[in-house]
Amino acid sequence: MSAEEKKYVSIALDGPSGAGKSTLARSVAKELGFIYVDTGAIYRTVGYCVQQRGIDPKDAGAVAGLLPELDIAMRYDETGLQRMYLDGQDVTGAIRLPEVSQCASQVSAIPAVREFLMDMQRDMAKNHNVVMDGRDIGTVVLPDADVKIYLTASAEDRAKRRYLELKDRGTPEDYGVILVEMEERDYNDIHRQTAPLKRAADAVQLDTSGFSFEESRGKILQLVKERLGL
Ligand code: DC
Repeated sequence: MSAEEKKYVSIALDGPSGAGKSTLARSVAKELGFIYVDTGAIYRTVGYCVQQRGIDPKDAGAVAGLLPELDIAMRYDETGLQRMYLDGQDVTGAIRLPEVSQCASQVSAIPAVREFLMDMQRDMAKNHNVVMDGRDIGTVVLPDADVKIYLTASAEDRAKRRYLELKDRGTPEDYGVILVEMEERDYNDIHRQTAPLKRAADAVQLDTSGFSFEESRGKILQLVKERLGL
C-alpha cells in the first residue's frame, strides 16, 4: 500500500493460539476506538465449511475447489462483536469447537485458501483503524502495519487458558488433550510453507506467561501509545 493510500492506523497482533491475542486485541481496540478484526475466525469459517461438507481438510485440491462457491461474510453486531456467516447462517459459536480448530489449522496451510482470504483482511485495514490478530498479519497481510506485536506464552499457560475458556463456554475438554492439540497446531502453524507463524523482524515480542490479563493489556497499550505518539 502506498503512503498516499494509507489513511488508517493498523496494529498487527500475531502469535500462537491461546496466547490471549483475541481477548487482548478486542480490549485494546475498544480502548482506542478501533475495529477489532479476528482473522482466525475467518479461517475457522472455512474449516467449518470443509468439515460440514465432509471434505478432507488436507486435500488441497478438494478444498481449493470449494473456494469459488464459498459464501463467507463478516459483520459487526450492535455490541461491536465480530460475527461470521457461512451461506447466510451465523456460525460465530459453531466455529469455536475444538474439532473446527484442527480443521482450520489444516486448511490454513493451503496457499489457495490464504490467497482467497487476503483481500477480505486487507480491505478491513484499508477502510478502518484496526487491531488485527492472526499469525501472518505483520509479516504478510499488513507488512506496513504501524505497530506490530508478537504475543507468546508457554504451551502450558496457553492450554490452561483454553481449558478455562472452553469450561466457561459450557463445552469442557480434557486439559491433556487440549495441550497435545495445541502443540500439534503450533507445529502445523510454524512449519507450513505458506505464511508460517513467525515474528516479523520489526515486531515487538511480548511473552505473557504468568501475566494477568490487566498486565498484558497495560503493556500492549503502553507500547501502542509510544509508537503512535498518543
Ligand atoms: O486464532 P485461531 O486459533 O482462531 O486460528 C485458527 C487457525 O487459523 C489457526 O490454527 C491458524 C489459522 N490462522 C492463520 O493461519 N492465519 C491467521 N492470520 C489466523 C489464523
